[in-house]
Amino acid sequence: MLRTHTCSELSEKDIGKAVKLCGWVGSRRDHGSLIFIDLRDAYGVTQIVFDPKTHPAAHKEAEGLRGEFVIRVEGAVESRPEGTSNDKIPTGKIEVRAQYIEILNKSLTPPFEITDVVPVGEETKLKYRYLDIRRPAMQKNLRLRHKVCKLARDYFDERGFIEVETPILTKSTPEGARDYLVPSRLNPGMFYALPQSPQLFKQLLMVSSLDRYFQVAKCFRDEDLRADRQPEFTQFDIEMSFVTEDDIFELSEGLMKNLFKGAVGVDLKTPFPRLKYSEAMARCGCDKPDTRFGLELVEITNLAGKSRFKIFHEAVKKGGKVIAVNAKGCGSYSRGQIDELIEFVKTYGAKGLANFKVEKGVLSSQIDKFFAAEELSAINEILAGKDGDMIFVVADNESIAYDSMANLRKLLGQRLGLIDEKRFEFIWIVGFPLFKYNDEEKRWESEHHPFTSCHPDDLAILEKGKDLHSVRSRSYDLVINGIEAGSGSIRIHDRKTQELIFKTIGITDEEATLRFGFLLDAFKYGAPPHGGIAFGLDRLMTLFTGSGSIRDVIAFPKTQKAFCPMTNAPSAVDEKQLNELNIRIKK
Ligand code: AMO
Repeated sequence: MLRTHTCSELSEKDIGKAVKLCGWVGSRRDHGSLIFIDLRDAYGVTQIVFDPKTHPAAHKEAEGLRGEFVIRVEGAVESRPEGTSNDKIPTGKIEVRAQYIEILNKSLTPPFEITDVVPVGEETKLKYRYLDIRRPAMQKNLRLRHKVCKLARDYFDERGFIEVETPILTKSTPEGARDYLVPSRLNPGMFYALPQSPQLFKQLLMVSSLDRYFQVAKCFRDEDLRADRQPEFTQFDIEMSFVTEDDIFELSEGLMKNLFKGAVGVDLKTPFPRLKYSEAMARCGCDKPDTRFGLELVEITNLAGKSRFKIFHEAVKKGGKVIAVNAKGCGSYSRGQIDELIEFVKTYGAKGLANFKVEKGVLSSQIDKFFAAEELSAINEILAGKDGDMIFVVADNESIAYDSMANLRKLLGQRLGLIDEKRFEFIWIVGFPLFKYNDEEKRWESEHHPFTSCHPDDLAILEKGKDLHSVRSRSYDLVINGIEAGSGSIRIHDRKTQELIFKTIGITDEEATLRFGFLLDAFKYGAPPHGGIAFGLDRLMTLFTGSGSIRDVIAFPKTQKAFCPMTNAPSAVDEKQLNELNIRIKK
């Protein structure tokens, strides 16, 4: 080794030792004749002092050092002079008096300083990601990610799971996003799809009698990106045979207990509470409720439909919903503050946001003339309004009304300081419907994915093909602080039911054979009952690190436009490569 110690190792017990350290020049300070540098490596920082009186050659060399030069220093460990120690770092009581220095590599002035507060945009950080990762915060995140993967692997290994790699060049698996396609040179005109998840392979491994499968799996989805979505992300992917929902819950809760204790030292209480999908929608407007705070939504469709307020009763007439929330203590909001919230709900498609102030026990509003006094007091009563509160209401079709109010609830929760950022609240969402209706395409589609079992009591409804909205699924999501951390289901394991599901969501027999024939064939050879779940590792990591963006926990992430500013991927390719693939780009 070029070094005897790392930059975090030396302490008072090493005083007097001759040491060799390697690392990057962090900061350099000229104090009269002495030069100090903070030498940084992956593990920490050690202060090096160059003294022209004792070691003039090393001091001379140190005059030319600049930030991010890579150096090797030989010297003696000394105690720092009285009053100059730094309690914030483990090496803060000592320094190394340099006797010899070797510059291993020079550096240009970096585009940003290697500190935890970087005053440049994300695009620049990602362009120079190798420098960004030198920052202690990024180093910490990546080390923690490694630890979490190891904890998970150990957890599953101890329980008899085996990790099996599944193909990356494969066939489309429907997880609700577009596929990334890869052209095949050897099969002109044919394409592989990158897996949106290993879903079908893990089910096939159950048919193979493997019993307990686990994988740290890469998934690829071409979808609109958000703060918690990447086009390429990682799942802890799990599948088990001969299980029910309770087995998956118990295994998952054990995993979470293990990871939260190991990663952030938090003891979790299990079992986690369970909430029906319908109740989550009614109370929070979404299927991933943040249960760290109240501000629950209240449906006032019946009351509002009877009022003379056109926007309300017309929304109700069209089959829409009227959803309200009591913003506790917001009665004194200014016009400007209210207008800002109106603009906020409009970004979710709502046409407006009605507001009622609670004053002297009654509701007052610009629109109160459209309501009878009894209607206003009934609304106030159902929302438990107290003087000083403000009631906000959206009337729209069901999905816009819920979506806009769910987001308003979240925003108000943050604004009113109701969210304890240090707490982790877990909840299982259960009792999802098996299908949802796609209004645009006028057809039913799977709420989870088409390999999910339905509640056994609802098989008859499925067979009749009527009232499909009422068919319950055997899927479940694990939600932590309003983030969907994991999702899974008990699967279909017989060919007939699987074919029926495909038919119900508009996949013809021919198409089913073409796309999923291998699964349907496998089901002819003794498929065991099975189920599983997949957890989003990147999302778990944002919870562990408290990062605002999923990009902070991935070494080389993509931007919102699925672009990598460092490698410039995706990029154009040579004409020759295109010719080999039989591909012509449309101008
Ligand atoms: P699902 O599609 O719900 O289920 O994905 C499981 C979990 O993966 C995470 N996740 C993502 N994380 C980052 N970026 C994305 N684009 C992204 N998409 C999903 C979420 C999510 O809960 N095969 C099924 C699982 C199963 O049924 O066993 C599946 O992939 O945390």
